[in-house]
Amino acid sequence: MTARHPAPGELEPMETASRDEISALQLSRLRATLQRAYDNVPHYRKAFDAKGVHPHDLKSLADLSKFPFTVKTDLRDNYPFGMFAVPRAQVARIHASSGTTGKPTVVGYTLKDIDTWADLVARSIRAAGGRAGDMVHVSYGYGLFTGGLGAHYGAERAGCTVIPMSGGQTEKQVQLIQDFKPDIIMVTPSYMQVIIEQFERLGLDAKDSSLRIGIFGAEPWTEAMRRDIEGKAGLDAVDIYGLSEVMGPGVASECVESKDGPVIWEDHFYPEIIDPDTGELKADGEEGELVFTSLSKEAMPIVRYRTRDLTRLLPPTSRAFRRMGKIVGRSDDMMIIRGVNVFPTQVEEIVLAHKALSGLYQVHVSRADKLDQVEVHCELNPADAASADRTAIGEWVQHRVKTLIGISTRVVVHAPNEMERTQTGKARRVIDTRPR
Ligand code: DLL
Repeated sequence: MTARHPAPGELEPMETASRDEISALQLSRLRATLQRAYDNVPHYRKAFDAKGVHPHDLKSLADLSKFPFTVKTDLRDNYPFGMFAVPRAQVARIHASSGTTGKPTVVGYTLKDIDTWADLVARSIRAAGGRAGDMVHVSYGYGLFTGGLGAHYGAERAGCTVIPMSGGQTEKQVQLIQDFKPDIIMVTPSYMQVIIEQFERLGLDAKDSSLRIGIFGAEPWTEAMRRDIEGKAGLDAVDIYGLSEVMGPGVASECVESKDGPVIWEDHFYPEIIDPDTGELKADGEEGELVFTSLSKEAMPIVRYRTRDLTRLLPPTSRAFRRMGKIVGRSDDMMIIRGVNVFPTQVEEIVLAHKALSGLYQVHVSRADKLDQVEVHCELNPADAASADRTAIGEWVQHRVKTLIGISTRVVVHAPNEMERTQTGKARRVIDTRPR
């Protein structure tokens, strides 16, 4: 694999700063953020007052824990523009993420915010080994979703040639990759699998494509998935993390030379890990819910936003900033099956460990006679379909799930191309029909 490592001088000064420099910058930016939120957003003024805290109470970074959390419903309650800290006319762009029910979550950016976002996605692309002059094929969806436009502006800022393909039209994705010969693809890992399948369907080997680097995110994915995609597509797969409430893609992103978890761009986002039940702070290295405070956002500063994503903070390695572990899962996606906590990513690792199975999977949870029933759906690789013993494969998966996760399941092994595929980005891994 041929991704380039940064040469001396290719890193921004902050990427090699000392911890003291980083902390000093964070403290001054945090003060300004809290003041901006308090002065301009009635929601924050009310929430700070109710907790008896004022921006002046922030004397050190540790004091942030005195401030209230922000949750998704706060954004919904202030729909559409109530969380903005600037007059609407200064908002240059709106994005929104659609929830499963109800109103979307709306976010806004000033021109300066869009500028910062482009800088951070450009930094993420460079961390992935991308350089000016590379061609970037963007298959994240364009539109209200932050993936497409976020990647696009970042790739332009990095000096790349951008192909704004967006999601869907899988045949055309492959055609353009074959004809234009991009170096980099930015896409959800689950849709990358669909693109790889399309190569195979056409009798092509994705390993022979021009792609050197894949920058994958927007949904949880495992090390097993990384190995699978790298093996099938012959590229370096790195993890990019972000969420619309905090900015979009590029809150954190992995370095190709270490591939050891996304580096949090700590000069713009202050991370904390909390116990999701009590809200108490956890030490670095301990698993819990990731919480972010923005440090430079103008239009929509966000204070202690509870992401629902479960992970750990890790010490710096190839950059001065701390890293986060790969996301284990969203607390929303955690299934409690007869008392056992189960994440879709645990099932992913098992399914990908069987050579005859494609990486596609879905977990169906239902309830019958007051008991939770779990079905794991997976699918055969086209190449192995004729020779595969479906019953034996099903039993193999069932046994691994029982011994590694601790739950009894029924496993359905589908024929190739029988299962639903994502066309627009994020895969639906869990279908839970249990009554609430
Ligand atoms: O998914 C932003 C994004 C676009 C990130 C493209 C990376 C690439 P939302 O639609 O608001 O924003 O969804 C945010 O997606 O809280 C996580 O649960 C999940 N997520 C995003 N990136 C990753 C990742 C975009 N690398 C939610 N690993 C987040 C695991 C991720 N989960």
